[in-house]
Amino acid sequence: MATLDLPALIDIHVHLREPGGTHKEDFSSGTAAALAGGIVAVLDMPNNTPPLVDEDTLGDKIGLASRSARCDFAFYMGASTDNAAAPTVGPHVVGLKMYLDETYGPLRVSSLPTVMAHFKSWPRNRPIAAHAEGLSSAIAIGLAQLYDRRLHLCHVSRKAEIELVRRAKEKGTSITCEVAPHHLFLTEEDAKELGSLARTRPPLGTQEDNEALWTNLEVIDAVASDHAPHTIAEKQSDDPPSGVPGLETTLPLLLNAVSEGRLPLEEVVRLLHDGPARIMGFKMPKDAHVQVDLDAKWPIRGEGLFTKCAWTPFEGMMVKGRVRSVSVRGAVVYQDGKVLAIPGSGRPLVLL
Ligand code: NCD
Ligand code: ZN
Ligand code: ZN
Ligand code: ZN
Repeated sequence: MATLDLPALIDIHVHLREPGGTHKEDFSSGTAAALAGGIVAVLDMPNNTPPLVDEDTLGDKIGLASRSARCDFAFYMGASTDNAAAPTVGPHVVGLKMYLDETYGPLRVSSLPTVMAHFKSWPRNRPIAAHAEGLSSAIAIGLAQLYDRRLHLCHVSRKAEIELVRRAKEKGTSITCEVAPHHLFLTEEDAKELGSLARTRPPLGTQEDNEALWTNLEVIDAVASDHAPHTIAEKQSDDPPSGVPGLETTLPLLLNAVSEGRLPLEEVVRLLHDGPARIMGFKMPKDAHVQVDLDAKWPIRGEGLFTKCAWTPFEGMMVKGRVRSVSVRGAVVYQDGKVLAIPGSGRPLVLL
């Protein structure tokens, strides 16, 4: 058995669905899933019902997370059509999330004046994180240059997008990006078999898109799950929502890539530890370690996952590499299939 200690691993893009979507996930179940996946802190997205767009909704969310989260957390404020004038940075807010394209939920900004207003008014010390597919990613990069401010591109998935990120970085633009595991390990070929379960935004790409992400790994700053749980009934309905769960499978899939020789182990640490902290600017949770067994082979199964939705687009995939235990602030919070952290033991990340 080859066990190994990794530092605190952080997922900078998750949807824990509180408030308003607790039949899909809640802070307790979602953070249990995080710990089982070797993740000790999560950054939660604002597309809730109601969306997180002001001081009141932020206060509610801080209350909910403080009572039930089992791992550490922080939030993104949502950019709405009318909250640019008085941006709420507030406690525990890592950045502004701007949805430039349609995805799950109504939170979206699509008019040029509104988008410009956000680029003007959002405090410069915190990044703007954008859901920006295809041409929208070029718009977001252009605005970041024009307003001279930091941009983070969420779930980059296409060859052209990652090439654009490379070019922007070479030109000195202050831009970072993340890639989701389903875009690293699945393609539209898998989507044919998975049907509506594979529906996600951005959609799974071609083989060529997938290869471009791997060959441009050095311009990718972080891997983030975009953990977006929906119930199996919802996914199999006539109008399936987009989004796939991922908190518990990101690290095993990356470790499997390590065992296949496709990814150096140091890259796993860069993409889930150093990258996240550098992009979003927070202090690492104290005394946090993730112990993994690099030799353990196991099939990924939806049943038995801690996420409420209890399914995975990686069903049946054999992976080598498993989370053994997780500790935070000196206490063991996960051990061999058991989540030991109690609801409310997670803390807000200390932002820099
Ligand atoms: C996400 C969700 O379900 O909240 N869905 C998705 O397809 N990725 C929203 C998002 O991240 O765009
Ligand atoms: Zn460190
Ligand atoms: Zn998105
Ligand atoms: Zn998302």
